[in-house]
Amino acid sequence: MSASSTPAATVEAARRSLAQRFRHAGLDAPELDARLIVGHALGLDHAALAARSRRPLADADADAIDALAARRLAREPMARILGRKEFWGLDLALDAETLVPRPETETVVEATLAALGRADGSRRALRIADLGTGSGALLLALLSELPGAAGIGTDTSLPALRRACANAAALGLAARASFVACDYGTALQGPIDLLVSNPPYVARGDIAALPPEVRDFDPWRALDGGPDGLNGYRAIAADARRLLAPGGALVLELGRGQYAAVAELFTAVGLAPEAPRPDLAGIARALVLRPSP
Ligand SMILES: C[S@@+](CC[C@H](N)C(=O)[O-])C[C@H]1O[C@@H](n2cnc3c(N)ncnc32)[C@H](O)[C@@H]1O
Repeated sequence: MSASSTPAATVEAARRSLAQRFRHAGLDAPELDARLIVGHALGLDHAALAARSRRPLADADADAIDALAARRLAREPMARILGRKEFWGLDLALDAETLVPRPETETVVEATLAALGRADGSRRALRIADLGTGSGALLLALLSELPGAAGIGTDTSLPALRRACANAAALGLAARASFVACDYGTALQGPIDLLVSNPPYVARGDIAALPPEVRDFDPWRALDGGPDGLNGYRAIAADARRLLAPGGALVLELGRGQYAAVAELFTAVGLAPEAPRPDLAGIARALVLRPSP
């Protein structure tokens, strides 16, 4: 038994005592985190947890809860502790080399589907590429919406590519998804109808000030956008025009305040920016660019 907490008599008591520890530690969602951790440690979903709330807790169960609680108290995000995150309604497995997919990245999926336009677009034999695919979030969300499409995800992290590939298989999308290790779009050939990317875009000097959940647990290479945060966009700009089909679109996720600088970079290589699409917080988050005539 760990010395860090008093053993709780029942599942419910353990959940409450954990929520209290999390509240005292200043976590944002102490009740939810406590419920998820107790459920994960005991292998119980929400309904089973409620149904077995009076079950006495074995020492081994209490130890398992304590071990997970210690990770959360060290500010490890819940998605990493659980090893999964929902994105666009898809259950994605994660590992240490994949960014935890963010809700605001769903704005890129929305912008891409909107850029495609008419409903019949969803059945077309589109070719998609996701540059810096991580867990595969963007590519797999788009393939789930576009049954006629096939796509490729690139990354420089082999563990991330293996994870994305496994996620594609788990979601029944493997036949339409492939993955390749390369620098953004360098190894790809066009024409590509939908080019999407959520590149690393944090200015290197800002990483130290990020919340510990991000700074200490998301992979450095998924965050570091170079001195001004724009290195990933520059690398993508070098290949975007070559890769895009004439009627195609490039859709990028933007960091806060990056719209003007990114639009300028891509205008210089012959892509015309549209008005950015805001996320739920009102931040300009997704940018659609099309080849200039
Ligand atoms: C911000 S994360 C986005 C991950 C995923 N697309 C998402 O939205 O959740 C950026 C990704 O780009 C990858 N990456 C970094 N440098 C890269 C490069 N030079 N070429 C390709 N991918 C790169 C990282 O490994 C990481 O998976």
